[in-house]
Amino acid sequence: SPSDPDLVERARAAKEKLGDKVFVLGHHYQRDEVIQFADVTGDSFKLARDAAARPEAEYIVFCGVHFMAESADILTSDDQKVVLPDLAAGCSMADMATAEQVAECWDVLTEAGIAEQVVPVSYMNSSADIKAFTGKHGGLICTSSNAERALDWAFEQGEKVLFLPDQHLGRNTAVRDMGMSLEDCVVYNPHKPNGGLTADELRAAKMILWRGHCSVHGRFSLDSVNDVRERIPGVNVLVHPECKHEVVAAADYVGSTEYIIKALEAAPAGSKWAIGTELNLVRRLANRFAPEGKEIVFLDKTVCFCSTMNRIDLPHLVWTLESLAEGKLVNRIEVDKETEAFAKLALERMLALP
Ligand code: 13P
Ligand code: SF4
Repeated sequence: SPSDPDLVERARAAKEKLGDKVFVLGHHYQRDEVIQFADVTGDSFKLARDAAARPEAEYIVFCGVHFMAESADILTSDDQKVVLPDLAAGCSMADMATAEQVAECWDVLTEAGIAEQVVPVSYMNSSADIKAFTGKHGGLICTSSNAERALDWAFEQGEKVLFLPDQHLGRNTAVRDMGMSLEDCVVYNPHKPNGGLTADELRAAKMILWRGHCSVHGRFSLDSVNDVRERIPGVNVLVHPECKHEVVAAADYVGSTEYIIKALEAAPAGSKWAIGTELNLVRRLANRFAPEGKEIVFLDKTVCFCSTMNRIDLPHLVWTLESLAEGKLVNRIEVDKETEAFAKLALERMLALP
């Protein structure tokens, strides 16, 4: 829907008043009405890297979700303030792994006698606490654009990986990209005693996958892929690696949001694409590439927006920018010092990957 012109004008005026004091980051899943005000857009890796790109900016307004704003706070200097325009913009996947549950899991691995062999690898989509746990235990963070390189690094440090919290990204990377078998992977269920696994199962596994998933990408099914292939002959199916293994296995291409955009930029005129990722991005790409004769459809019409990404809307952005322009700091996201130190270690190991 077109943005309210009055709100657009207010956002523009507040941003102009703030000038270099504010730096606005926008994840690719943000609404059009918000993304138009982003100084930089990107996937979660690019945004983590770019967060530190404007050390002179006093405020970093993060149009994305809570774990991204936490990561930006960790990676920027202490006097820079990271702001999330709506504090309710969380991530259901990140919420699937709590610090208590992960500490309990580590006890289970210790009792099974394998903790020393295990390197934790945590997806960016996790709380700062989980990132700190990861750094403390010699592990690193990954995103959907570097999961294979992160796992390569981890398997140089140890024999097994505990992958948190997205089982699908972990499984897809291990099996599709690294040649492991499905049998090399077990799923640790934090709601069951001992994760629902025997000590023997844990000892035999190479990949211990946390039982988490994305509530949006988890809804694409093998049927969606088969249906679209039937409906649109010659279609290229391109999905995000947070999709289930069977969906990824049936797709033609798999990659992060940044990868998806690059693939469509490089696609020839006349090509047809079905995209399995968040709807704001797919719509924007469909509109952008239609004039070039590229037909882009959403992989499954029954899947909807990421509701928490969508919480950041133009009214929240206007309120945030106007408050900051009046000198009122609102919705600051601040990670405590101890958590920050270990989480930073895990993030920096990712940023140092080749
Ligand atoms: P990327 O931007 O890294 O592809 O991640 C997608 C996502 O789910 C962010 O929440
Ligand atoms: Fe979390 Fe999925 Fe939304 Fe990304 S798309 S923020 S992983 S719920």
